[in-house]
Amino acid sequence: MKNIVVLISGSGSNLQAIMNACESGIIANAKVAAVFSNKADAYGLTRAKEAGITTEHLAACDFTDREAFDRALAEQIDQYQPDLVILAGYMRILSGEFVRHFAGKMINIHPSLLPKYTGLHTHQRAIDAGDREHGTSVHFVTEELDGGPVILQAKVPIFSDDNADDVMARVQEQEHRIYPLVAHWCLQQRVVMEGNNAYFDGACLPPSGYA
Ligand code: GAR
Repeated sequence: MKNIVVLISGSGSNLQAIMNACESGIIANAKVAAVFSNKADAYGLTRAKEAGITTEHLAACDFTDREAFDRALAEQIDQYQPDLVILAGYMRILSGEFVRHFAGKMINIHPSLLPKYTGLHTHQRAIDAGDREHGTSVHFVTEELDGGPVILQAKVPIFSDDNADDVMARVQEQEHRIYPLVAHWCLQQRVVMEGNNAYFDGACLPPSGYA
């Protein structure tokens, strides 16, 4: 049985999708061993507890700086011997040391078609730019914010009367579909990171990931 550790800061709908996929076998032979949040009131912690999964909360104010926080977090995560660390709406910038510690076995989902719209407010920025197409990207985490090699993207349309919530709902529906799939591929070692590239079954993926 492989171990997954999930980091969240909020609602945890992607966490829910990952937990469901472990239950249903879409992610084969794996379990969510623990869920960590930097926010005590993250609803994802409730979701995890309801599923009988161990939860941990670390508050940034208890640490002198980002490096100290991330060192403590890494130590605690290591206790679960994770095969994969999944960032699911984890809204903290990671220290270089933390990223290097989990290099090649940490993935993130970002709500845009990377490399477009790194950072925050991606749905509104896509609407403001007049984009007709938007989406989400799953990528390996590297020290560059939202810049690691993309594994898989899903596209959604933007319609003329959409607001950011409409777009977010459409994007999240796709996130819940593709994130478990990528987690499964990673745990099966079908997708690996080498250097700054992602490989699928030995083939180097293009910047937009597997298509
Ligand atoms: C997701 O849409 C995810 O793409 C985004 O936060 C949301 C979390 O939702 N992540 C980022 O913006 C990271 N840069 P959830 O808590 O319901 O899974």
